[in-house]
Amino acid sequence: MNETKILTGTELLEKIKDNPGLTQRQLCQASRMTQISLIPLVSELEREGYIRRESGRILPTGKEPTEVAEPAAVEKKASKVKDASKTKEEAKPVDEPPIARAPPSSGKSRVGYITNRDYDWTDFMVDGIPDYISQKDELEQLVKFHGQGINVIVTGHRGCGKTLLAQSLAKRVNAPLFTLRGHFGVDPVDLLGRPAFVPDTGTFWVDGIITKALICSLERKCVMLIDEINRMRVEVQSVFMSLLDDRCEVGLDANGGETIRGNPDNLIFIATVNEGAEYKGTEALDEALNSRFSVALELDYLGMEFPDKEAEIIVSRTGINISLAKLMVEAANHLRKMSNDTESEIELGVPTRSLISWGKTTMALAEISDKPFRQGAILSLVQGLYRGISNPIVTVLDPIDQIIDDDAFEELAKAAIK
Ligand SMILES: Nc1ncnc2c1ncn2[C@@H]1O[C@H](COP(=O)(O)OP(=O)(O)OP(=O)(O)O)[C@@H](O)[C@H]1O
Ligand SMILES: [Mg+2]
Repeated sequence: MNETKILTGTELLEKIKDNPGLTQRQLCQASRMTQISLIPLVSELEREGYIRRESGRILPTGKEPTEVAEPAAVEKKASKVKDASKTKEEAKPVDEPPIARAPPSSGKSRVGYITNRDYDWTDFMVDGIPDYISQKDELEQLVKFHGQGINVIVTGHRGCGKTLLAQSLAKRVNAPLFTLRGHFGVDPVDLLGRPAFVPDTGTFWVDGIITKALICSLERKCVMLIDEINRMRVEVQSVFMSLLDDRCEVGLDANGGETIRGNPDNLIFIATVNEGAEYKGTEALDEALNSRFSVALELDYLGMEFPDKEAEIIVSRTGINISLAKLMVEAANHLRKMSNDTESEIELGVPTRSLISWGKTTMALAEISDKPFRQGAILSLVQGLYRGISNPIVTVLDPIDQIIDDDAFEELAKAAIK
């Protein structure tokens, strides 16, 4: 077992002086710190002017220690700060480290571009998303993985809640969310940044989404979502190599080779993928990139194992009757099982998203259709989701009709109007 050593502020300062250019993460590892968070101590030294940060590195300022706070004192101060801001920040988790402002990096870059990095991170806070219903304890796991240098890849079929899970983590830990939506047209400059010319003013350097996330991580907890990572071209994926290993950095070649290093203690990278030949426009992830995700979470269609939970989502999102919602999940599970059969023409199962759409169309048609539930299924599933297959009426509607007794569902459909 490693012996735990608790550093005082003076000792920490000595370490920084001996190793100028250490990152906070390297310092943590070197000190084998397990009993005290380094962040309050580093913040205190920074606030007192003993150290400064430059692109994620911790450097001594040259100021000599006359009285450098001990950890206990620092912790007391940190809790005082928390107390003072309690009313405003009551919703924040207790273990959130105090915010340490990175030096503002505004002015001219090495190549003369005007740079303004005085960001307002509240612009990136997550709002207005539905509650995530956990399959097992995946959201709790992500909360624990945050800031541990663990990158997570979430796999699963379309519409099974991958994106919502990552968004929900950011909401849960009260952290800004940076989202990169993967598709064929994404360019490395979208990730890193680009110069933008403004007549009469000059050329500005505009940070890309990953650069912003790294800068944010120098100041506070945040979440970087790389959505549908396998839909991006290989040259874009290569940017992730230095980002997702211990370096946690990107190089901005177009900005004079500036290196931006993040603070992994404040950051988690979550990537999502739809895997399999059925998903067009996706590429298998390069093994080197794959190995940078130390944890893979696999999500199934929620209703396969937890039909009642999926029915609850449909009710909460559409207002439909719970009995109808349960029938919908039963029908969907039937089609999901069919999709596992290699003989079946159905290649993909029914996503929760399509069940929500089925519920919404049923409710919308309730007053003008004799059979709103069935018509909803035709519009959302037969003509919507499965329109590509050769005989969707037979293939998709038959199994639904088998589950739904005509008379019984007519009555239920009427009940859904209320
Ligand atoms: N576990 C869940 N809890 C709450 N809502 C869910 C859950 N799973 C899916 N949904 C709902 O289903 C819809 C699809 O979810 P989401 O976009 O997160 O899926 P996805 O796996 O990212 O899909 P895709 O592969 O198409 O990107 C959303 O409306 C979401 O609210
Ligand atoms: Mg998604």
